[in-house]
Amino acid sequence: MTALPQTKPQEQPFLEVRDFQVELITDAGIIRAVDSVSFSIHRGETVTIIGESGSGKSTTAMGILRLLPEDLAVLSGTVLIDGVDVTADPKAIDKVRGKTLALIPQDPMTALSPVHSVGSQLFEAIRIAGAASAKDKGALQARAVRLLEQVHIPTPEKQLKKYPHQLSGGMLQRVLIAIALASEPQLLVADEPTSALDVTVQGGILDLLLELQEQRGIGILMITHDLGVARLISDRIHVMKDGSFVESGEVQQIVDHPATEYTRNLLAAVPVLGPWDETPAAAPAAARGSHAYPATADPATDSALTQTGASHD
Ligand SMILES: Nc1ncnc2c1ncn2[C@@H]1O[C@H](COP(=O)(O)OP(=O)(O)OP(=O)(O)O)[C@@H](O)[C@H]1O
Ligand SMILES: [Mg+2]
Repeated sequence: MTALPQTKPQEQPFLEVRDFQVELITDAGIIRAVDSVSFSIHRGETVTIIGESGSGKSTTAMGILRLLPEDLAVLSGTVLIDGVDVTADPKAIDKVRGKTLALIPQDPMTALSPVHSVGSQLFEAIRIAGAASAKDKGALQARAVRLLEQVHIPTPEKQLKKYPHQLSGGMLQRVLIAIALASEPQLLVADEPTSALDVTVQGGILDLLLELQEQRGIGILMITHDLGVARLISDRIHVMKDGSFVESGEVQQIVDHPATEYTRNLLAAVPVLGPWDETPAAAPAAARGSHAYPATADPATDSALTQTGASHD
C-alpha cells in the first residue's frame, strides 16, 4: 500500500479575498478603484491595508461588506466569509454582516445618531444580534452594561442615558466598538477607527482592540494610512496604491525592509516623538514597536483628550 502524502490540516481562513475588483460608475466614467487584490485573515489575526488617500482602502472594505450601492459599484472576484461566498450571492452577506462580521466606522462623531441616546442605539444592536428580545428590558440593559464594561467605559448605567454629543471622541469610539461587539463577531473591519482621535486617545483604542483580540481570538481587518498604527497591531500588511497591492508581507519585514519607494514614503511620514513632548503618558518612540503605544489616561474623563486639546474632526 502506498503511503498518502502527509499534509498538515490548515484551518480555513475566516476571510478569503481572491482577485477582488471594484469598478465605480461615476459621472466622469468608470473608475477601477480596486484592481485584483487577494488576501486572507485567519481567526485571531490582524491584517492591515495601508495606503495614501484615494488608494482604494475603504472601497475594498466596503466592497467586501457589500456596503457599496449595487447600481454604482460593480464587484468581481471571490470573497469568502466563513466559507460563505458573498460575491456570488448578494443576499449571502445578510447571513454574516452584523453577526460574525462587524464594522467599526471611521468617524465616531458622525457614526451615531445625534437624536438617540447611547443606550437606545446599543439596545438596537443587541436586538439585531438576537442577544436579547426588545421586550426583555432587563436583559437588554444587562447586556448593554456588560458591553460597555468590556470596552472600559466607567459608570456604564450613567453613560447609557447620555446622547452622543455628551461624550468625548474617545468614549464614542468605545461605544462604537461595543456596538460592533454586540453580535460577538469573529472578524472586525475597522476603517481608520482612530484617525479622528487625538494620538493619546488613539493609543487607548488600539490597546482595547488588541485586548479584545487576545481575549476572544477575533480577527481584525484594519484600514489605515498610518504606518505607525499598522506596525503596532498588524500581523501582516498589504500596501495599497492606485487600487492594487504594491507589496505585502509580515509587519516586521515591511517596516524594516520596505521594497518600494511608496512604502518608504509612508514610513517616513510616521511622526517620532521628540524631546519637547512632555505628555506624561507618552512612551519613547522606540518602545512603540512592541505594542507599547502610550496608554490612554482614564477613559472616565478621557483626560488625555483635554490635556492635549484633541481635535474632533
Ligand atoms: N463616491 C465616489 N464617487 C467617485 N469616486 C469615488 C467615490 N468613492 C471613491 N471614489 C474613488 O475611488 C478611489 C478609491 O477611494 P477610497 O475612498 O477607497 O480611498 P481610500 O484609500 O479609502 O482613501 P482615504 O484614505 O482618503 O479614506 C479614489 O480614486 C476615489 O476618488
Ligand atoms: Mg477611506
